Amino acid sequence: MDLTITLDNQIDRPLHQQLYEELRQTILTGRLLPRQKLPSTRSLAQSLHISRTTVTQSYDRLLSEGYLESIVGSGTYVCAQLPDELLHSSPVETEQTLNSDPIHLSCYGNHLSQTLFALQPKLEQPISFRLGQLALQHFPIALWRKLLSRYCLASSDWLDYAADFQGYLPLRQAIAAYLSRSRAVQCTPQQIILTNGTQQALDLVMRLLIDAGDGIVVEDPGYLSARRVFLSHQAVLAPVPVDESGLIVEKLAGLDSTSLKLVYVTPSHQFPTGSILSLARRLELLAWAHQHHCLILEDDYDSEYRYGDRPIPALQGLDQSNSVIYIGTFSKVLFPSLRIGYLVVPPSLVFLFTQAKWLCDRQLPMLEQQVLTEFIEAGHLESHIRRMRSHYDQLRQTLVKALKTHLGDRVVILGEQAGIHIMVKLQTSWNDAEVIQRASEAGVGLESAQPYYLQGIDRGEFILGYGDLDSETIAMGIDRLAQALEK
Ligand SMILES: Cc1ncc(COP(=O)(O)O)c(C=O)c1O
Repeated sequence: MDLTITLDNQIDRPLHQQLYEELRQTILTGRLLPRQKLPSTRSLAQSLHISRTTVTQSYDRLLSEGYLESIVGSGTYVCAQLPDELLHSSPVETEQTLNSDPIHLSCYGNHLSQTLFALQPKLEQPISFRLGQLALQHFPIALWRKLLSRYCLASSDWLDYAADFQGYLPLRQAIAAYLSRSRAVQCTPQQIILTNGTQQALDLVMRLLIDAGDGIVVEDPGYLSARRVFLSHQAVLAPVPVDESGLIVEKLAGLDSTSLKLVYVTPSHQFPTGSILSLARRLELLAWAHQHHCLILEDDYDSEYRYGDRPIPALQGLDQSNSVIYIGTFSKVLFPSLRIGYLVVPPSLVFLFTQAKWLCDRQLPMLEQQVLTEFIEAGHLESHIRRMRSHYDQLRQTLVKALKTHLGDRVVILGEQAGIHIMVKLQTSWNDAEVIQRASEAGVGLESAQPYYLQGIDRGEFILGYGDLDSETIAMGIDRLAQALEK
């Protein structure tokens, strides 16, 4: 095995210590993988021109710390399962600790390193009301595979760089037509820039429109991944509360609007409360934005899942003054790893956004764009959405019924008219952490809404995602939750 290890006789750290650190680093950064065999002490000593005792000393320390394991008669291996605490020390951290000459970070890198966030731990209970989970088992994989295979064999054009920097034109045409029929968005295909999901769209908006110190109005509570992108670009967040009709637009009057550049909203299905921005407030918001020379960033991520009233037209479709940038995604209606989303921008910004997207990552994969185009044009997208809407509607009804049956007047249900999660307010004497702990002891995972608020106080609000569960599991989960809260 070719192990690149550098030892320095000139420095005053013993060689066995240096070798130990080098090997440890190699394991932590994944250059040596779990179960991979190490060279014998003899051959490593020979290749590094050091004594075998030095190698043995280093191996012994790594064995005692759980990085390596030795198998009698076979040799020394990287442990199949590295202890958690070892894996949690990030490679960068290790490199910087061991390296006396730390890597110089850019302004962006520095800022990011000071605002790092912990990734949300997954809820691992047997019944987990996890946010953002979909019933992916209902995705028509056979059809998708058939289309992939057809386009894959039809020509080799998809292998090359794309000629169209905004994204595959037939797909943009199909999206423009779809948006016009389903969301009353008014745009030409020329206004659409295909992106790697909503997340890249948000990042591009930040790069092009926001400087450090610029203000962005955000809904409170609101979408964490958007806020994190905004903060990574050193925007200043101006939280505005939401109620059952969405963002309370009149509260904008209380803000100092001089540095405000953008209002980020999820009007069709406020994240996470589930409220829907009323038509009156939409018009009020558009007027305010126009008056204060602010742009509106409309994140329309899952409005297809709407149960009940007819959808209210997108802000973009109501706008008369090119004040709205609209973002859509296929993450919720198809599957998140597809990584296809889109921006609809005012005509004056098209060229700039196209350049920025190209500089970032050139283009989206062509084959998936071709398949998606046919999927939309042949009507598969809309029939899949209809099927999934009815599936999620049944789950939602089961959840609401179970909550009412088992928790009665101890629960207030919010935002049940759309999406694949609901928010609940529980009347209980336990604080949020205690509720989660009790639920978890009963085998039920749920999330507090607290992290989504900028002012993180205990409100007894929880988010229940139900997309990947079945009716029986939902009913059982709520029954167990109610019992756990009674004890
Ligand atoms: C508010 C909101 N916007 C957008 C998305 C989708 O993001 P992406 O398109 O990057 O997968 C989500 C997914 O959970 C979301 O909750």
